Amino acid sequence: MKLCIIGCGYVGLVSATCFADLGNQVICVDNDYDKIENLKLGIIPFYEPGLRELVTKNYDANRLKFSTELNNSIKKTDIVFICVGTPTKKNSFEADISQVMKLIKKMSSSINKFKIIVTKSTVPIITGDRIEKILSKKVNKKNFSVVSNPEFLREGEAIRDFIYPDRIVVGTNHNRTNKILKKLYGPLISKGANYLQTSRRAAELIKYVSNAFLATKIAFINEISNLCEMTDVKIDDISLGIGLDKRIGQRFLRPGPGYGGSCFPKDTKALLSTAKKFDINLAIIKSVVKSNDDRPDLILKKIFKILNYKIHNKKICFLGVTFKANTDDMRDSICLKLIPALIKKGALIKYYDPTGYKKEFKNYKNVSFSKNINSALEYSDLIIVHTEWNEFKSLNFKQFKSKKLVIFDLKNIYSQNLMTNQNFKYYSVGR
Ligand code: UDX
Repeated sequence: MKLCIIGCGYVGLVSATCFADLGNQVICVDNDYDKIENLKLGIIPFYEPGLRELVTKNYDANRLKFSTELNNSIKKTDIVFICVGTPTKKNSFEADISQVMKLIKKMSSSINKFKIIVTKSTVPIITGDRIEKILSKKVNKKNFSVVSNPEFLREGEAIRDFIYPDRIVVGTNHNRTNKILKKLYGPLISKGANYLQTSRRAAELIKYVSNAFLATKIAFINEISNLCEMTDVKIDDISLGIGLDKRIGQRFLRPGPGYGGSCFPKDTKALLSTAKKFDINLAIIKSVVKSNDDRPDLILKKIFKILNYKIHNKKICFLGVTFKANTDDMRDSICLKLIPALIKKGALIKYYDPTGYKKEFKNYKNVSFSKNINSALEYSDLIIVHTEWNEFKSLNFKQFKSKKLVIFDLKNIYSQNLMTNQNFKYYSVGR
């Protein structure tokens, strides 16, 4: 099939590449000229394992093309996927869908034959209705169909999640459209993916509710981990003990410094904003957002306690600063709250991250990037494991014989028994 993917960000590029790899002809459009030229050279604007190889393979095979030309690209294709960003509006919880709407206004002149317009961007319920209304002012209704087909790709696992999705949600009441999309996703369905056709509004809402539910699981286990710490119970036992109940499930019950990233913080807030418009009180989601927002302060209090409340001139090493492993994404990473607060108290921060230097800290005099993990560790009065990168899991701390290391493992990547037996001062979450 001939596809046009608009927006070469995370969702757009991964989807475009994977669709091309399934044998479709894909044009990927973005208005950022440098990004497009770089993509033609195989330079990917972000880190995602396996993506560069897959882009190059499909570009070389001529199935994947890159362009800044919006209208021509749309004209040449049958299905148009909108994959532009929908960030949180400034000083508000609402999703900013202006990029989506701008695009819709621009594309009406390119609808020269029947086209399926798919929103893959996360958009609030009823956005599809609004898009349809705008397009129908200029285009005959028979010539287009607006569908919601949300993505559920996790950063760092995106290719795998695309190829083996738990479910494919397609929101449309239009039979012809549904048939075409079912055919497009045919290779994944035949590998076992569930295909779920719903109303467009339901599909839009499913995306938000999925993320809100997962965020709830995390906030829930984080709060329970606080109780575990006060009662000498290991959170690992609780996560397993409840997770083995199939009604609960074991995943997303890992405690930590709070959820971050490009989706959970933004989507929980956008859902609250939508609910407010309909005068609905989503009390649970409200508490989840508050619980997660409060979490960095709680972690900071623990750090202060570990350092005996003497923070000035203390050398603190952060292992990992991205919001999770296998990504270079810093969006809503919890360390963006922890590090400035520690600096304010006079701490000296070094950080090591496998994805390198981060511009987010460039204005802080007392934050420096260390290329060498060992020198970063040796330097410190406290080591904070912030991100669960695999390379941290087998670090040889024994080599630092000259000093007793103090480690605060925010992701519980180490066994508590092993660490304390090695004579470290070891702190973790909920145990
Ligand atoms: C998420 C959704 O999982 C994906 O379906 C959606 O489409 C995009 O948003 P992503 O943000 O890439 O994906 O990461 P995810 O693995 O879901 O983790 C989100 C945050 O929750 C991270 O900060 C992570 O560290 C945290 N988390 C996750 C926990 O603290 N505990 C857990 O048990 C799981």
